[in-house]
Amino acid sequence: MVKKFYQQSPAERVAALNLSDAAKANFLADQSTARQSLIENYVTDYPLPEGIVKELLVGGRSYQVPMVTEEPSVVAAANNGARLLNLGGGVRVLAAGEPLLGGQLLFTAVSATDLTAFVAAKRSAIDAAAQAAKPSLYQRGGGLRDVAVRALPGRRAVVTLTVATGQAMGANAVNTILEAVAPIFQPFEEQLLAKILTNAGHDSLLTVQGRVSVTALGGVDRAKQIAALSAFGAVDPDRAVTENKGLFNGIAAVLLATGNDFRAVEAAGHAYAARHGRYQSLTSWQLTAQEDFLEGELTLPMNIGLVGGALASLSRAQENLALLDVQDVQELKQVILALGLAQNLAALKAITGPGIQAGHMKMQARVLAQEAGASEAEIPAVVARLQELGDYSQAKAQQVLGEIRTSWTQN
Ligand code: MEV
Repeated sequence: MVKKFYQQSPAERVAALNLSDAAKANFLADQSTARQSLIENYVTDYPLPEGIVKELLVGGRSYQVPMVTEEPSVVAAANNGARLLNLGGGVRVLAAGEPLLGGQLLFTAVSATDLTAFVAAKRSAIDAAAQAAKPSLYQRGGGLRDVAVRALPGRRAVVTLTVATGQAMGANAVNTILEAVAPIFQPFEEQLLAKILTNAGHDSLLTVQGRVSVTALGGVDRAKQIAALSAFGAVDPDRAVTENKGLFNGIAAVLLATGNDFRAVEAAGHAYAARHGRYQSLTSWQLTAQEDFLEGELTLPMNIGLVGGALASLSRAQENLALLDVQDVQELKQVILALGLAQNLAALKAITGPGIQAGHMKMQARVLAQEAGASEAEIPAVVARLQELGDYSQAKAQQVLGEIRTSWTQN
């Protein structure tokens, strides 16, 4: 019997792909046994570059922060922002409560008043069902913390279960608890539409603050420009989208490096950015009254994990967590948020100053030099010449490399 695609081995699947022999060989070379069961129809691992923020001070501790990204200049900018915040004494963290994740039972054509009375009467049964569904979570000190009913327009209502998730992100735990609790709502069986966690993260907000001296920024004028640009992000959603995208350049890169769900954090962040009814930037930067420091703040919902999820299969993520050397998930969140603040500061500084293109084009010139066949020793000379000429084409890189080789053999 012919095997279906999903029944085939990873090697058989690659053989069936519409690819050149060379590409197939590359796919096979990058296959891993550890990750082939992580997703369906696995064919290969997908390599992305990883870079490091050499030093970021958060809460008085120094961290080396891994970032996985394909975008040129992001890691350089993060290092730049980190350096500035380190000079200002490092990033401070406002106290946060225990990690919590919400789950929703979604009801239609229901009376929220009836549902509220029902939840009050069944609260201990709900607690017992939750504990029976996830005893290991309770053993580690986690578990169901709150059950609340919220009425919505059109006779809809939501029962939100708030769960303390410990060191894991808790998505599986919350969905398991929801499914275990749902049968208790048997009298509302017809009205119970769905049960799923919410990524909103209302109960997992975290705030970090940093400062940088106006001298380190190159003067009070530049500091004022950064503050003015930050204020722009509060009133213009189009600017806010770009600024938040830049913030997530940093945050998503660390989430990816540590095996976390960056889509969940981004979705929660964008929703939080629109909490006042208009989409705004997530950071704010202001000059102190004495005009000697620029002070910034970032608040973000953060539901992430230090254990669980796909981590067991992601050896590089485990190594990156070892590099970060955080003691618990709250510490990991703090470093990620601090990195975001640094990324944002560097972006605002660059675009109120020389712009980001110089950095981007330098990285682009490196790629062109490499593609033209330049060795590590030749790359800096090719990059410098392409920058001088302002021509970032493959043809020019090839020509420049040829000229450099000729001049080096002549000398
Ligand atoms: C580029 O990926 C990110 C920036 O556009 C962010 C910003 O404008 O604040 C530089």
